[in-house]
Amino acid sequence: MDTLQVIDSRTGASYQIPITDGTIRAMDFRAIRTGPDDFGLMVYDPAFTNTASCRSAITYIDGDVGILRYRGYPIEELAEHCTFLDVAYLILTGELPSPGESGEWRNRINRHTMIHENLKKFMEGFRPDAHPMGMFVSSVAALSTFYPDARDVHSGASRQLQILRLIGKVPTIAAYAYRHNLGLPYVYPDNRLSYTENFMNMLWRTAEPRYEPDPVLARALDVLFILHADHEQNCGTNAMRAVGSAQTDPYLSLSAAAAALAGPLHGGANEEVLRMLDEIGHVKNVPAYVETVKAGKHRLMGFGHRVYKNYDPRAEIIKRTAEQVFAVTGANAKLEIALELERIALSDEYFIKRKLYPNVDFYSGIIYQAMGFDPAIFTVLFAIPRTVGWLAQWQEMIQDPEQKIARPRQIFTGPAVRHIGVESLKTAGAGI
Ligand SMILES: CC(C)(COP(=O)(O)OP(=O)(O)OC[C@H]1O[C@@H](n2cnc3c(N)ncnc32)[C@H](O)[C@@H]1OP(=O)(O)O)[C@@H](O)C(=O)NCCC(=O)NCCS
Repeated sequence: MDTLQVIDSRTGASYQIPITDGTIRAMDFRAIRTGPDDFGLMVYDPAFTNTASCRSAITYIDGDVGILRYRGYPIEELAEHCTFLDVAYLILTGELPSPGESGEWRNRINRHTMIHENLKKFMEGFRPDAHPMGMFVSSVAALSTFYPDARDVHSGASRQLQILRLIGKVPTIAAYAYRHNLGLPYVYPDNRLSYTENFMNMLWRTAEPRYEPDPVLARALDVLFILHADHEQNCGTNAMRAVGSAQTDPYLSLSAAAAALAGPLHGGANEEVLRMLDEIGHVKNVPAYVETVKAGKHRLMGFGHRVYKNYDPRAEIIKRTAEQVFAVTGANAKLEIALELERIALSDEYFIKRKLYPNVDFYSGIIYQAMGFDPAIFTVLFAIPRTVGWLAQWQEMIQDPEQKIARPRQIFTGPAVRHIGVESLKTAGAGI
């Protein structure tokens, strides 16, 4: 076995720390002590920049060369040949479905697309201008009150049922949030349609008896859903695993994951990209804007990634998908600004040195806007497919015998013990 030799210069003691899978166990450092009263060494890693929190067989990323695979299959092949629901099956079960399994899987999800009328009423209570992501997070959490059976997280059958319910219901919740903002009546699911077509039906159907989705746009949405389905231990997934590790039910855990996704540094970035492009306004303003980014005034939204230090492979696929969408919708005027931003940023020393490339959010917003979505709903469009990844990671975590309640340590920096004396009571509160 490979080991790491550690010599503690405080005591001169030497330790052999086993290395497995390119990692050392943080708990092995606890044995490194200066004496019996010493707690032992801890590992300090704010923001988990170099800490593996789990073993996972779901998604593989090599950020240095821009590789993304679900269960071993390259993202490019999945986006080219599969439907989103088949990819969901792959992510959850480990294998792509046979044609028979695929049909059965789709039928099982279709049986769970409706939401309880009381959840509909709950959603009607939001302000007309409520942010769709706030509505999404709260409504997914509210599902927990409809399905108390979900608390039995150790029952495989219960987990399966909640997984079907959640994958079936998130597009319905998302579409209701969208229509709520527009003041339109909610549209019930049409199970004759595919997953993404049905979502489009719930979003955009007006007076027609049957909604006929544009096949190019439906496929583009399906591809975007495939690209967003999972991304290993990102901030939202870490929230799903951390909250789920307390054996919280999957609806509440998933709402926590979605809340993390809502942040502008995470899934909220696609909305921010559009706001940034609006602010830039014209191609001629791009060089000046890049200068303000380099001066540290703000970040270039849709650029940079904690893991990808090369081109984000999802951004490449999205760029191609954009062309197909624009052939139907007409080009989004913001595309010109985005292309110029990318061109200048990729040739600028500031971005090259820091390995900052366009990420998945850079072009997805431009496609969504061309399809007619308001930027406020963009992150909800991300949350629908990511629900699959969150659930697969949650299931893997529950079944992993090495996992326990997630509970990091800290380095305490506050005062040592002190006592309340009469003098200190006289001045108490002075600092507030
Ligand atoms: C994604 C992100 C949060 C990753 O951050 P991270 O791994 O913690 O990277 P850091 O914040 O340590 O950044 C490293 C350096 O690059 C710079 N940088 C990172 N992203 C940048 C961006 N989008 N624009 C300008 N500079 C950026 C930082 O200022 C820092 O520079 P410094 O070394 O001179 O201080 C970050 O790149 C970001 O904020 N991007 C914009 C938001 C976004 O698109 N998020 C979607 C992710 S899919």
